[in-house]
Amino acid sequence: MTKTVYIKTVGCQMNVLDSEMVVADLKRHGYRVVDTPAEAELLLYNTCSIREQAEEKTYSALGKLRDTKARHPDKKIGVLGCMAQKDQEVIFRRAPFVDMVVGPGQLHSLPQLITNIDSGEGRQMAVSLARTDGKQATVARSHETFDPLRDPSMRPTPFQAYLRIQIGCDKFCTYCVVPNTRGPEQGRSPSEILSEARTLAEQGCREIVLLGQTVNSYRHRSEAGDTDLAGLLEQLHEIEGIDRLKFVTNYPKDMTERLLVTVRDLPKCSPYLHVPAQSGSDAVLKRMKRGYTVGDYMEMFERIERILPNAAVSSDFIVGFCGETDEDFQKSVQLIERCRFKNSFIFQYSVRGGTKAAERLEDDVPREVKAARNHELLEVQNRVAREDNEKLVGETVEVLVEGPSKKGEKSEPEAAAVQMTGRTHCDRIVVFDGNRRQAGQMLEVHVDDASSHTLIGRVRTVELVSIGIEANG
Ligand code: 5AD
Ligand code: SF4
Repeated sequence: MTKTVYIKTVGCQMNVLDSEMVVADLKRHGYRVVDTPAEAELLLYNTCSIREQAEEKTYSALGKLRDTKARHPDKKIGVLGCMAQKDQEVIFRRAPFVDMVVGPGQLHSLPQLITNIDSGEGRQMAVSLARTDGKQATVARSHETFDPLRDPSMRPTPFQAYLRIQIGCDKFCTYCVVPNTRGPEQGRSPSEILSEARTLAEQGCREIVLLGQTVNSYRHRSEAGDTDLAGLLEQLHEIEGIDRLKFVTNYPKDMTERLLVTVRDLPKCSPYLHVPAQSGSDAVLKRMKRGYTVGDYMEMFERIERILPNAAVSSDFIVGFCGETDEDFQKSVQLIERCRFKNSFIFQYSVRGGTKAAERLEDDVPREVKAARNHELLEVQNRVAREDNEKLVGETVEVLVEGPSKKGEKSEPEAAAVQMTGRTHCDRIVVFDGNRRQAGQMLEVHVDDASSHTLIGRVRTVELVSIGIEANG
């Protein structure tokens, strides 16, 4: 008998990938995925802890399940991911009807936990060790992944896939929970990564996005020698069927000449680099313990410009971090104006329990000031992005078509023209009128118009068609 599972995923690409793995695993245990909690026997919430708002949203979604559980006590509810690792027992206290709490390093144990509940053992918790619970190697071992289980039906599109090359983070930026929730940095072995990439190519995947919290710090040591990200890209480049390779997220200090030259020399590597700056002020960067100055960041940026002059660079910024003055904030504005990022994700600082900033620094920027700075920085970012996108009007770009855009999804299934969306090699979003069959194709699109987030174009007609008709006639 098939059992039913509903899974809701929030947060970063790591969580999207984790959910894919969880579903692949559960399918092997006889489960089928359904679209609504009402249809499901097993309800899973894969959660994020990066900011308080993300957690509160999850707690409020969980709160709504209180009645559901009262009416259907047989339904099982599981909280997975970073919030499970961070809050542990607190989740059972705040939502006593939850059956399972499973950290991101323990997701492989889910089928066993379900069996335990079914055998009457009561609610279950599986979390990894905290950083202070043992030696680095012991803690690292408790953060496991089970990546080779791939399920194309759970991916946003079947021809694009994430591939984890690194788990955890050792940078310990003072504001960030990730080194606690995802544990010590560990590079997966190149042979595992390559075999997974080959599986993905066989499943029809054309674009692979390599994932790591600081993906360019990737390193794997073995008797056969050390492998870094550049070495890994060289090996992945050989795989037939894969047309594009991207990697996120980068740490500014590890953006080496060797990596950039590799990206330049391997045509499948996208000239797209997400390298979060977080702030344009040295004083703030120091309190964040980011390990670089604005001068260092600019040096790295100029290296990118020299080696990859056509690369698109994107960034993350936190506004309203502890002690951030108006002057500090203006330096973030200036950094965006100097680097002209393709896009930036801008976040208001949110205190996270267990971090150095929470313990030692005062969250002294008022909420309204954070909101105003967020708004101002976004306006500057949107302006530079719009100006740069407008320069592409009149050009032809190569687009990997992902599927109907939000607007296209609303079209009738039989509609002649459907708005489709895809991305350029540089990760720019392009929409155009086309048809659903184009999903997964690489098309030449002429750019007619541009906004800060999107290029609007039309597929270039192949002129040979009319010659063909004449020849036949
Ligand atoms: N508050 C706000 N933003 C944060 N980020 C990480 N931790 C916090 C926090 N405590 C942002 C950083 C990071 C992105 C994924 O989330 O900009 O790059
Ligand atoms: Fe968090 Fe810093 Fe690690 Fe990124 S590099 S995951 S911001 S600690």
